[in-house]
Amino acid sequence: MNASAVVELVGAGYAYEDGPAVLRDIGFAVPAGRSVALLGRNGSGKTTLLRLLSGGLRPVSGRLRLEGRDVSYDRAGLTRLRTTVQLVVQDPDDQLFAASVGQDVSFGPMNLGLTEREVRERVSEALEALDIAALEDRPTHLLSYGQRKRAAIAGAVAMHPRVLVLDEPTAGLDPHGQERLLAVLDGLRASGTTVVMATHDVDLALRWADDAAVLTSEGLRTGPVAGLLADQALLDAARLRRPWGMAVARVLRDRGLLGPGEAGPRTPEELEEWAAAVTDR
Ligand SMILES: Nc1ncnc2c1ncn2[C@@H]1O[C@H](COP(=O)(O)OP(=O)(O)OP(=O)(O)O)[C@@H](O)[C@H]1O
Ligand SMILES: [Mg+2]
Repeated sequence: MNASAVVELVGAGYAYEDGPAVLRDIGFAVPAGRSVALLGRNGSGKTTLLRLLSGGLRPVSGRLRLEGRDVSYDRAGLTRLRTTVQLVVQDPDDQLFAASVGQDVSFGPMNLGLTEREVRERVSEALEALDIAALEDRPTHLLSYGQRKRAAIAGAVAMHPRVLVLDEPTAGLDPHGQERLLAVLDGLRASGTTVVMATHDVDLALRWADDAAVLTSEGLRTGPVAGLLADQALLDAARLRRPWGMAVARVLRDRGLLGPGEAGPRTPEELEEWAAAVTDR
């Protein structure tokens, strides 16, 4: 068990009704304040794992710990879990249910028993952060996919969770929307929020995450993102592409331009900065 974990699955297994085991003996400790990218091929169990972590599913074996205590799956236990860990599901249509964007985002904060003014503040702050303030009165069913995705994320952000769990949040967002979301997540990280995100985007994982968690048929491997995503055997097992930054760093290292232990650029912008610094030397 991990003392610094805010939420942790210990020896957790899961199988859907009558189905084969989807996850077996998974240990997944999410340290407080870290940003974690969860990677794995289609059907590897990322969504299942995130639902176990946020209490939507109950492990059939093993247990879930929250802030050092086992989660009891009774009303009090689940309330404690849900006010600490917020999940944004993969498909926004499974999340949004109120008539308008503003109503949807205010629903959670209202249920926390906040005053009307506090609720209003939370809602406008979340809408602003996701750049959808102008959509507040729009019916959710008339929004575009990316707009619905942003509205669903705003609903979770407005809850000010300690742990925000996002299932493929950037899928379907345009480049500006992705950058905006990453900026929001950086802001949350700076204020101490722990973020876990399932994604297929290895470049995004390398650039954004502190740690990676990679699901393969062998189980879950976790560790600092740069180390894990440099492991070609692991990438192959998870059917992941080598991140762009890793490929660039390898070329630079092969040509003696980057020291063996030196971290390479993770984005085109960082490459540009790196190249400028090198030519100025
Ligand atoms: N409600 C369900 N009932 C039965 N089997 C399910 C259910 N949901 C998922 N599964 C199965 O569990 C396995 C893991 O699915 P899961 O959705 O967790 O994968 P994933 O890694 O999130 O995939 P993707 O990248 O496609 O989102 C798959 O084999 C899937 O078919
Ligand atoms: Mg999934």
